[in-house]
Amino acid sequence: MKTVITITGAAGRIASYIIPRIGEILSSTDETIELRLLDIDSCMKKLEGIILETQDCAFTFLDKVTCTTDPAEAFTGANLIIMVGGAPRKKGTKRSDLLLVNGQIYKEQAKHINDHAAVDAKVLVIANPCNANAYVVLKNAPNLAKENIFAMTMLDQNRACAQLASKYNLDINGIEDLCVLGNHSKSMFVDFYHAKILGRALTDVINDETWLKEDFIQNVAMRGDEIIEASGMSSAMSAANATIDALSWILNKEPNYTISMGICSKGEYGSQVDNIVSLPCRYNDHGVIESVSNLEYDEHAKSMLANTFAELAEEVRLLHENGLA
Ligand code: LMR
Repeated sequence: MKTVITITGAAGRIASYIIPRIGEILSSTDETIELRLLDIDSCMKKLEGIILETQDCAFTFLDKVTCTTDPAEAFTGANLIIMVGGAPRKKGTKRSDLLLVNGQIYKEQAKHINDHAAVDAKVLVIANPCNANAYVVLKNAPNLAKENIFAMTMLDQNRACAQLASKYNLDINGIEDLCVLGNHSKSMFVDFYHAKILGRALTDVINDETWLKEDFIQNVAMRGDEIIEASGMSSAMSAANATIDALSWILNKEPNYTISMGICSKGEYGSQVDNIVSLPCRYNDHGVIESVSNLEYDEHAKSMLANTFAELAEEVRLLHENGLA
């Protein structure tokens, strides 16, 4: 079986970490990938060099790699679309600065996806603001099933697991269900309440509710800023790593656990219907991705959820106001 994968913003830093690891998302050795690299004119020489390097990797799964500036060509027959393209956040860039700039790019690309991609194509948006960008795709690519449009929040979950493991000297493999809800932004809610450590409730193992409620959530939410502050650039290696984690899960490689994923809301926990909201997600018995929607929350969690959902709803309102959705 061959999967056609298109990467937007393919000459960028995140893509350069994704490309050599793309084979990890396949579930069997008889599967192959045709890779389409989409970027702007000034990046084509760089992409030609990347293609030469993919050849030198001698990947057995790589059937063909091409680069183009033409979204119609890039998306024709695509089965999986990884959207990394867009203006990045640098020191001093606010999230709101990107909303309309990237919204415009995503609107244009979504129309081409709508017209040219496979009808069952899956789209994962990484570029920020990823939930809002994914919403723009949802609204401008109505031929695609809503269930096949995702925003990547696995990076936040990985960060949460890493920070917890580091502070309490835990084996990361023993941490389960530590999901992140809401927007991939400072308002995100890290749901430590329902997480487990080696099968026990996290809150039974870690008796430090003040740290969990305050510093922990804040540290995870601010990690992207911390990286920009340190390096002057947005995260790339860790974003690509989380993309590979998320894609492996989306392609049903390891379905038997819960992960954080931005999906089209059905109103879970008071979120606005159709917003792309990060929720704990798992596969049901029929192999269909669904949110975990029966969790109980206390007043602290409810207020954090209401806050992050309100931020998302406001971003969506701005997208509509500006004709992007
Ligand atoms: C991250 O979480 O590292 C990035 O999403 C930060 C950003 O805004 O680019």
